[in-house]
Amino acid sequence: MRTVTLEGQGDFGEWRDAARRLLVDAVTPDQVRWQLSGQGGDLFGSMAEATTNEGGTSDIVVPKGFIEAAEAAICHSDPDRFALLYRILWRLQEERSLLQVSSDVDISQLTRLIKNVRRDSHKMKAFVRFREVEGLQAARRRFVAWFEPEHFIVSRTAGFFQRRFTDMDWLIATPKGSAAWNGEELKTSREPAARPEAEDETDELWRTYFANIFNPARLKIRAMQSEMPKKYWKNMPEASLIPDLIAGAERRVAEMAARQASQPPAFHERLQAQWRGREDEGGDADLSPLARLREEAAGCTRCPLHCHATQTVFGEGPDQADIMFVGEQPGDTEDLAGRPFIGPAGQVFDEAVGAAEIERGEVYVTNAVKHFKYERRGKRRIHMPPDAGEVAHCRWWVAREIEVIKPRIVVALGATAYLSLTGESRPIAEVRGMPIPMQDDRMLLVTTHPAAILRMPDADLKARSLAAFRSDLQGVKRLYETLPAV
Ligand code: URA
Repeated sequence: MRTVTLEGQGDFGEWRDAARRLLVDAVTPDQVRWQLSGQGGDLFGSMAEATTNEGGTSDIVVPKGFIEAAEAAICHSDPDRFALLYRILWRLQEERSLLQVSSDVDISQLTRLIKNVRRDSHKMKAFVRFREVEGLQAARRRFVAWFEPEHFIVSRTAGFFQRRFTDMDWLIATPKGSAAWNGEELKTSREPAARPEAEDETDELWRTYFANIFNPARLKIRAMQSEMPKKYWKNMPEASLIPDLIAGAERRVAEMAARQASQPPAFHERLQAQWRGREDEGGDADLSPLARLREEAAGCTRCPLHCHATQTVFGEGPDQADIMFVGEQPGDTEDLAGRPFIGPAGQVFDEAVGAAEIERGEVYVTNAVKHFKYERRGKRRIHMPPDAGEVAHCRWWVAREIEVIKPRIVVALGATAYLSLTGESRPIAEVRGMPIPMQDDRMLLVTTHPAAILRMPDADLKARSLAAFRSDLQGVKRLYETLPAV
């Protein structure tokens, strides 16, 4: 009997070398005992015993596909994997088509191992949650993540993270090895890594994101738990929300249904109501310039969008705010309520504004276009982006809001706002983050639109965009603090 002792941490090379020697020495599978180091036995002695015919390996040929299959299966944590692979390797010398026999007991076991490893790798790609840590070099941001895979998949999955997150330094630590990227070199280790400490702000971002994308009407608890198994929850900051979201789902579905059923009143009824209201209030003689502007805008017919929207959604905030945020256009919730940024994008906005220690009540929040543009799909009204003509018609209102409020900083949330404020169409990435002088010593800052973040299909990209959005708003706060007092 030969005993082979391996580290068994997903290193295909160590198994391959041992298996090759055994095969050359014609050691049959039932004559080999495979064991993991640390499980007793003489590690060095047993390997030495297996090296009697090291040179004669040239006639070992394996069918295409075996190496790839074995490289995956060796990452499984099943202690029988070494014996299984050697048994298959042995049989392949005679049974050249063995890999195609899916009903064979060894092959079906091999298939099961590979499937489990691939699934674990997929879960790692989906559930790794990076946390930002202080960087020594300000130029590159640094992130760490802790993940608990079932199998030794870190090395084979690390390339995915390198391709996806090339522009930041990161470390993924797991009890089954670690991977690190510094912009130039990907390093992997099979040694168990220590768990990085403590929760940080990125965790809160994940929770905000998850709460925003959670759709109670689509809740299928069993499907959700099979996609996001409970064992991963403890390392996913947003998972702490799940029980409450599930518990409140029924109520929220009822609320959504009630909201969807509500029809905006017809246009002529709205106009009549406005006129009646104005007469009741005895005209607009005592109104502030901003309130008068709002009144005027309520009857705006400068473009056809007013025909289908419930009402004009004008800006909101103090008459003399120092900071003005300009979004794109009201969404469904804003259209029905008549207030800007109170729906899902508004929640992301509020969260980031709060994190930057900016009081929402002290800033003026408005939109480049004041009416909701949408397309009907059944009972739902789906957001449609305004075109350049609609933005141009509404610029008139934005310019007058700036004139009245006289903000010292204007923040464009997205490309439509930038177009409205400058007349230029530019990708946000080109103008983001640098203060652009406007008239009257006013500064324009440009960042992304929170709704664009919510629409991103990729969870990691979404979390990073949220972090960047937050950091832009902190930049707004910093710029504000450096302005000379007036
Ligand atoms: N998106 C906007 O641009 N503005 C809003 O008010 C809501 C969503």
